[in-house]
Amino acid sequence: MTHQIDSFEEYKSEYAKSVKDPKKFWAKQAKTFHWRKPWKKTLDWNFKEPKVKWFAGGKLNITENCLDRHLKDRGDQVALLWEANDPKEASKSYTYKELHREVCRFANVLKRNGAKKGDRICLYMPMLPELGIAVLACARIGAIHSVVFAGFSANALADRINDASCNIVLTSDAIRRGKKVIPAKLVVDEALQNCPSVKKVIITNCAGIEVSITEGRDVWLFEELKKVSAKCPAEEMDAEDPLFVLYTSGSTGKPKGVVHTCGGYMVYTEYSFKNVFQYKEGDIYWCTADIGWITGHSYIIYGPLLAGATTMMFEGVPTYPDAGRFWKVVDKHKVNQFYTAPTAIRALMACGLQHVKPYKLNTLKVLGTVGEPINEEAWNWYDEHIGKGKIPIVDTWWQTETGGIMISALGDKGPRKATYAGYPLPGIQPVLLDPKGKLIKENEKEGLLAIRFPWPSMIRTTYGDHKRCKNTYFSAFKNHYFTGDGARRDKDGMYRIIGRVDDVINVSGHRIGTAEVENAINQNPVVVESAVVGYPHAIKGQGIYAFVITAGKIKNEEEVRKSILATVSKEIGKIAKPEQIQFVAGLPKTRSGKIMRRILRKIAEGRHDQLGDVSTLLDPSVVEKILKDFLKK
Ligand code: WTA
Repeated sequence: MTHQIDSFEEYKSEYAKSVKDPKKFWAKQAKTFHWRKPWKKTLDWNFKEPKVKWFAGGKLNITENCLDRHLKDRGDQVALLWEANDPKEASKSYTYKELHREVCRFANVLKRNGAKKGDRICLYMPMLPELGIAVLACARIGAIHSVVFAGFSANALADRINDASCNIVLTSDAIRRGKKVIPAKLVVDEALQNCPSVKKVIITNCAGIEVSITEGRDVWLFEELKKVSAKCPAEEMDAEDPLFVLYTSGSTGKPKGVVHTCGGYMVYTEYSFKNVFQYKEGDIYWCTADIGWITGHSYIIYGPLLAGATTMMFEGVPTYPDAGRFWKVVDKHKVNQFYTAPTAIRALMACGLQHVKPYKLNTLKVLGTVGEPINEEAWNWYDEHIGKGKIPIVDTWWQTETGGIMISALGDKGPRKATYAGYPLPGIQPVLLDPKGKLIKENEKEGLLAIRFPWPSMIRTTYGDHKRCKNTYFSAFKNHYFTGDGARRDKDGMYRIIGRVDDVINVSGHRIGTAEVENAINQNPVVVESAVVGYPHAIKGQGIYAFVITAGKIKNEEEVRKSILATVSKEIGKIAKPEQIQFVAGLPKTRSGKIMRRILRKIAEGRHDQLGDVSTLLDPSVVEKILKDFLKK
């Protein structure tokens, strides 16, 4: 097992070591895992191409490290705990032995259905234990998993399946979310009309609703499981073989497939999990994320299981059957570490303390947040009412591309400061740059956040398009990975993340690209052009504001609004629906035709005194018109 830091003093000395000799530092942590063959070179890198290889030549299978190596000492300890959407339904648990067995069986089902090492397998599933098992089953046989959040539409799903040419899709009849039952298989069926690479669909039974079966393509998991053994040797992988692809939104174009590899990702997720959450033997750890996002990959499945922890999965939503559900579950399972998103905290805060008061919450030792900046009010509420002012809050900053937590407190080992993520983890070298790329050395300054040295779990490429990876992350500033975030460093060197400086909106902690939403809106036949920006939203952090030009005058604005929302739901999914749609006659454009989103952002934010110079616009009068209509609303 990797080293667990025990004091702020120790953090400082470990950090110093990790910067002085990163290879030595990570080699030491990596040696604690089970490698079938040792690696040849600890690190080989340049950020120019970029090329980053950690532990290359080393052979391993991550599931042997998540499962097999724990069987001897903790085979009977609960590995995975599962809480259903319906509070009346019994929870489920799998010991390490049982989880190992289920992963092997599922892996054999994959093999029976033609899966091989290197294949891409798409998972579009609810938060059932089978989703966690399926992820590991893919890794067991060396297939690359591509989990797509099961809130995306058929079109969005098809795009992702096609981008990676997946040959198998794993899904379920339905998804249960609160009172809703959403027919997942129907979405998959629709998507697959345009996905020629898919040969098999394996369906897990979730809600028992009827589904249509395409003979020769669709099979039921429970039928398949009857036909396989519980023995499945793990495929030998190189440390730099891909482990998974996960699609995420950027400033431009379609979402891209972020690729993570086996060895470095394994070392870093385990190390960061243990240190950030200060997980101790016997603790019950709960992360409320969905496995469809990076947080679920790294801190529900891989990090905790690698560390031999008990990790919990929750199928439902925070407000079902009422806004006390999280706290009820914390008491029920005696949760010790609780990790959620600021948007959930704000939503529950708005529901009132009567939903918190009935619960003891006295098993909690560490609280965590992730996904977006946490505002002071939410931080204080979390601290006072959930933590009772007694336990640390770890505000963890990281990204799909970073694979693991980059800036965060390590449990109670160090100072805490509301709304500050804090100090970088050992091995992480953040810097602040000015827009020209000049290093900002002083403290008490704001700048663009970049990382100047590789870390084991960093993005290796964007699937099928390495140039895009280079252009997106490694071209803005020479020899740096650019995060797309702005940050502030205080007098003590602690970091506070301010938010995205690019055209990415963060809605309820979900990343959405403005270009993506515009493309979707433009699919609506009445739309001529659109421009999308983010604006502050009390619960969601940011909301989506769309300025839309329609063909001709519209009679019924409400009807057109509804139709645009339906288009966005169809093209991307409900999570990308704009909160506000304003119809406009023209958009502020430069003489070269570029939309000035900066001006639209200021309008949507209500900061009308800060529009800046509009005289360089092709037609400055459009701004006045947009403002007038904005104020009328
Ligand atoms: C934002 C989620 C402030 C940030 C793990 C980043 C945060 C984007 C924090 C990545 C935090 C994440 N404080 N902002 N603690 N954590 N972000 O890829 O803008 O879904 O770039 O990864 O979320 O979102 P992603």
